[in-house]
Order: sequence, then C-alpha cells, then structure tokens
Amino acid sequence: MKILKHLIYVILITVLLVSCAPATTAPEATAPEATAPPVEAPKEFTVVVIGKSVHPYWSNVEKGVIAAAEDLGLGADQAIFFVPQQEDVAAQIETMETYIAQGVTGIAIAPSDPNALEPVMKKAADAGIIVTTLDTPPVEGSVSQEYIGTNNYSAGKAAGEAMVQLLPEGGTVGIGRGSDTALNALQRTDGFLEAIQGTGIEALEPVNDQEDAARALELANSVLSANPDLAGAFGVYAYNGPAWATAIKEAGRVGLTRLVCFDATTDIINGIKEGVIDATVAQREFDMGYKSVQLINLIATKGADAAMSEMAVVDGIIDTGVDIITPATLKDYEAALDAKGIPHEWDTKGWEPPSEAAPVTVEWWHITTQDPGKALWQTMVDEYMAAHPNVKINITVLENEAFKTKLTTVMQGGTPPDIFQSWGGGVMNDQANAGMLQDITSYLDADGSAWRNSFAPGALAVYALEGKNYGVPWDMGMVGWWYNKDLFTQANITQPPTTWTELLDDVKTLKAAGITPIALGEKDSWTGMHIWSYLATRLCGKDGFLAAANRTGAFTDPCFVEAGTKLQELIALEPFQPGFLGASHDEMQGTFGNGKAAMELSGQWAPSVESAQAADKVGVANLGFFSFPAVEGGAGALTDAMGGGNGFAIGKNAPPEAVDFVKYLTAPEQQSRVAAIAAGIPVVKGGEAGLTDPNMILVQQGFAAADYFQLYYDQYMPSAMGSIINDAVAGLFAGTSTPEQVAQAIEDGAKQVFGK
Ligand code: BGC
Repeated sequence: MKILKHLIYVILITVLLVSCAPATTAPEATAPEATAPPVEAPKEFTVVVIGKSVHPYWSNVEKGVIAAAEDLGLGADQAIFFVPQQEDVAAQIETMETYIAQGVTGIAIAPSDPNALEPVMKKAADAGIIVTTLDTPPVEGSVSQEYIGTNNYSAGKAAGEAMVQLLPEGGTVGIGRGSDTALNALQRTDGFLEAIQGTGIEALEPVNDQEDAARALELANSVLSANPDLAGAFGVYAYNGPAWATAIKEAGRVGLTRLVCFDATTDIINGIKEGVIDATVAQREFDMGYKSVQLINLIATKGADAAMSEMAVVDGIIDTGVDIITPATLKDYEAALDAKGIPHEWDTKGWEPPSEAAPVTVEWWHITTQDPGKALWQTMVDEYMAAHPNVKINITVLENEAFKTKLTTVMQGGTPPDIFQSWGGGVMNDQANAGMLQDITSYLDADGSAWRNSFAPGALAVYALEGKNYGVPWDMGMVGWWYNKDLFTQANITQPPTTWTELLDDVKTLKAAGITPIALGEKDSWTGMHIWSYLATRLCGKDGFLAAANRTGAFTDPCFVEAGTKLQELIALEPFQPGFLGASHDEMQGTFGNGKAAMELSGQWAPSVESAQAADKVGVANLGFFSFPAVEGGAGALTDAMGGGNGFAIGKNAPPEAVDFVKYLTAPEQQSRVAAIAAGIPVVKGGEAGLTDPNMILVQQGFAAADYFQLYYDQYMPSAMGSIINDAVAGLFAGTSTPEQVAQAIEDGAKQVFGK
C-alpha cells in the first residue's frame, strides 16, 4: 500500500491563511454530481461503510452513503452504514467479521486503531471483498486499496496556522482529541505542532476522550481550570470544538482562549456565530461517504484500474479536501455547500459576521495606587484589550484626594473620563444631575437583566438615581476597627471592646503600656469624620440621621452634639500617633501597618493598604476586626453598619466598549480574583468564591447582617455637604471647635445646601 510512503499528496485544496482571517476555499468541483455518471450496480452488490462513533459528523457521512446509493440505484439493504457508540475497536472488528461472513462486495472502514483492524481487513480482502478506508488512514502496506478522506497532516497544519494568526503573542494551547491510535487524530496533532513550532505557542500534552463527548467536556474543563490563562485550544475531532466552546464560555473566557477546531457540524457553526470558535477546518465527510460507495461500485463493475482513473485517485488517495471557516468566511462556505447541493442542518439567516470593529479609546481613572490591586487592574485591561483588539484602554491611577480634585476640574470642563471611581450616593447623584454621567440602565437590563441580576441588589442600588443606573459597584464593605492583636496582648487586653466606655478604657491601658492606641490621618479629614459619624450612627440611629439629612430634623439635635462630646472624650486621651493632624490616609495606614499603633477605624480596603504602606510590605501579622462599639444610651443598634464600597461611574460620552469593559470587570471570575487578593469584597454572586481572608469574611458578614446600612455621610449627601461635615469635625481634632459648634456648622451648611 502506497499511502504513507507517498507523503507528498497532490493537495486538491490548498489552505491559505491570509492575515487574521483565514480565507475560505470553497468546496471543490470534486463534488458528487461532478463525477462520472452512475454505473448500474450488479444485483448482489452490497457495500458496508463502517464509521467510528455516533455523531452528527458520521450522520453526514451516512447521508453521503445514502445519496450515492440512490444515484446508483441501490436498495436500502445494499448500502449499509454502521457506527459504534464511541471509539470501539472491538465493535469495528466484530462488524467486519459479520459482513465477511455474509460475503458482501466491499467494506469501507475508518479504522479507530489501524494496527488492530488490519488483520480483519486482510481477512476480508483474502475472501475477495473490496476493502477501502475513509476518514482515517490505514497502516502502511495495508490491504486497503484506497483511502478517501482528508490529508490530516496538512489539515492539522492549517489549524495550527490559524492558531498562529490568532495568537501573535504566543501562549499555552490545550489539545483535545478523541483517539491516541487513529491516524487522523495523530496526523492532525503532528501537523498542528509543526505549524506552531518556534512561534511562542506552547502546546500542552493532548487529552484523549476516546470519542466520548461528555468526557471531552470534562477534560476541557479540567485543562482550563488547571490553566486559567489558557491562550488557545485546539479541538481535533468534531465534538472537541463544542466541548472546548462550552468550557470556555463557562470559564468566562470567550475571546480570551482562542479556539480552532475541526469540522462543520451545527454545534461548531453555532460556536462560530457566537464568536467562541475562531476558526474550523471543515472536512468533506459527505463526500467521504458518497465516494466510498461510488469507488467500491466502480471497482466491482469495471475493475480497479478503470475505477482508479475514473475517480482520479492519486497514490491510493482521494483527498476530499477541507475548507477553513472563520466568521468572515462562513457565509461563503454556506453558499458553496448550497451550490453543490450538500445538505446542512444549520443556516446563517439573520446572522452577520462581526464587522471589522473601528478603533475605540477608553479612559479609565481609578484610585488603586498599590499592588497587588493596581497590577490586577492592569492585567484585566491587558486581557480585555487582547480579546478586543480594536479597544485601547488608558488607565490613569490617582491617589484618592488627587482624584477628587482632578475629577472636579474635568467635570467643570464637561469632560468626565469614560470610567471612573465612584462611591455612588449623593456625590454621584450630583454628577448625574449635572448631566455628566451616562444612563446605563439598558445595559443592565439586556438579556433578561442578566448583568443586573448578577449584583447584590443593595450594592447596585447605591449607583442608581430615580430608577436609572449610572454606575456599578465592584466592592462593598463597612467601616470598623482594625486592631493589632499582638499589641492588644502586649497591653494585656484579652478581647476587643464592645462599648464606647470599654474602648476608652482600652485606649488608656494601651497608653499606659507605651503603645499608641489609634492611627489617624486627619490631613484627609474624612478619616476622623468616620469616628464622629459612626458615633452619630450609634447615638441618633437610622431615624435620627435620616431626619436630619432629609431636613425634617436637624444636625443640632442632641444626639449629634453628643457624638461630638464622645469624640472629644477620646481626643482628650491623646490616643493618636504624633503628627496625626498632618498625616494623610495612606500615612495612617502605614503607621498601623508598621505596628506603630494598635487600632485604626477603616473600611474593607485597610488590610491591603496597610500592608502596601508597611515597610515590610506585609503589615500587621495578627490583624483583627471588630464592629464599632455600642454607645451607651444610643438609639442605634450594634449591628447598624456604616461604610460603603467602590464602584465605577460611566462618563456621559463613554463608548459602549467602556460599559462592556466594566461588565467584564464585574463578572464573577474577575470579582473572585479581586477577592482572592483581598483588594475588595465581591458584590456579584459567585465572586465570594475567592474570599478567603478571615477578616474580609468578617467584614462581609458584618454588612450582610446590618438591618440599617448607612453609606458614608460624605458620599451619601450632596458633595457640598461632604466637605462641610469633614471640615466641621476637623475642628474637634484641632481643638478649635466645641461639639455644639460642630453640630451648628453642619446644620448651617445643610440649610444652605438644601435650602431649608
Ligand atoms: C474525525 C472522525 C471522528 C469525528 C468524531 C472527525 O473530526 O475525522 O474520525 O470520528 O471527528 O466526531
């Protein structure tokens, strides 16, 4: 047998890959109807075609068998088609034996293991049966007279070349295939590996499912979870592509893990239409079935030589050819099939290939100035841009205070960034009312509100005004006391305080032990304001605060004055580190992170910032968290929580790509990555999977348990109120105002801002 000796095929179809979009080569004029006119088969003529597994691919082969039988005027019992459930060499041998015993005219087989099948193929040939192969070649020197199918090596190479186009930067690629013995699987793999050699693409060891589609999916999932950044996947057999496609979709990696596969079954075409499959090498399996019957018939009626020349057999091979299909060429492929009258169950009605997207630039301002959070945002941008080559995202990283200043300036100029840090609430409402934000409600409600429903409703609500959404959260937490357990132990404090009095006692104890009790960064006056507003939350309760904020009550109500008095008691103990009035928020985190103070009042960002600010980049080894203590006689509950989260608002002129990117950022997989580095507390279902830090879990449970959750005062109220409150409370720390004056200043400000 000449097949493998003559590796230089006359390639009927040359597969050309041009730039990013491999070109389609339409099915050739070797179509069934273009071949010789039907020859009438002898009465006793019976041909058997044996395939490899139950699959639409093999149904297409069967369609070819049936079409040939019809054209040749054969009865249904004269053209028999058989496939085992999945790769099953024993079943193929057994079927051969059955038909040898029946003395059929010819058998065309796709040998799942050519070595194992050869003896029984020889037995058939010795019994005078015409033996040919299709789809997967036989061993070298086989009794098979012809192989009708794909040149698998060059087709595999075409798949590899498509992958090279898709991954110009290289990366790791998984390979899923249905056999470790069938030559078509092995040759495709070899061709693929040849094409990627020296390109920066590395292939993992192929995984074998033995033509079991369910197993193929399991394997694809496990390869992806072991290689979460997998750059590409190659599906060697017809169901491998769809298996990868499902795994890629489930992992949220559409466009990130590029997918090249084989064949053009309905699943695969759907994958191309959806954009999860980037290219496929379509075999011509209908022709394989048709020509197998036709060839055996010709040999039987006219003899081998005449048959070979009539069917243009070259070196014992009829290369049925392939078509490379990409989104750009799918419609042409369909038209070519239709022109040849080859049936297909799918169609492209109502589908259009994605047009070459125009370049878009997105400006993103965030305030995550420290690693690992800063690096993670950058990684996500890189990943998104790789998957969306037309989108360029420019990141501007700003320190919290600088961000607020710069944002105010650009807002005044009417040019907000496309995506920017937001805490939602009143400040965001002001921006929306000023026409600076984009209403993204329709994005959240698309696809049955899929994006909206992914969020914890309470967290999303912070970014809505009068039923319209202007941004989304990516983190939500609460403020509380972070403490250094080792310093507490050093001062013989065995458990954190649960009342304000206990807290003051602990401050005294710590001081007596020579330990600075509290770190503060009063240069950024909101840090100290949090202590006052938490006291107000405990003392005034929900109703008291909302009455003042909604102007049915007043900020001069006794509970607000009392908050100032309680804070003054604390300040009088001189609990803060030296220089706290001039220290920034980050310096406060550094003091705490360096173990130079026992406590700080801060939110969920504290663990990551204190470690980033610490000299050793590790921070407090034994970190603890406790809720703001109860204040004796207060109207609020111990479970009432104050805090907020972080989100992104969308600027008025942002392109749709900006919203799409934010959607990507808030997908459960990305949220999980944020949680895993303790850079934030997830707000979408599934994101909490990454939350392992025990303190972060405490914070998450804290805000989840709160019946009354109060957004930070300075973000809840209109922006003008924020600075009024911050400045007023700063007077207490500086020792320049009394509690009454603080309350009065806030009330005066409120009258001005609200006009009542
Ligand atoms: C292969 C066949 C295989 C089928 C499985 C095709 O790509 O050519 O050998 O049986 O996939 O679905």
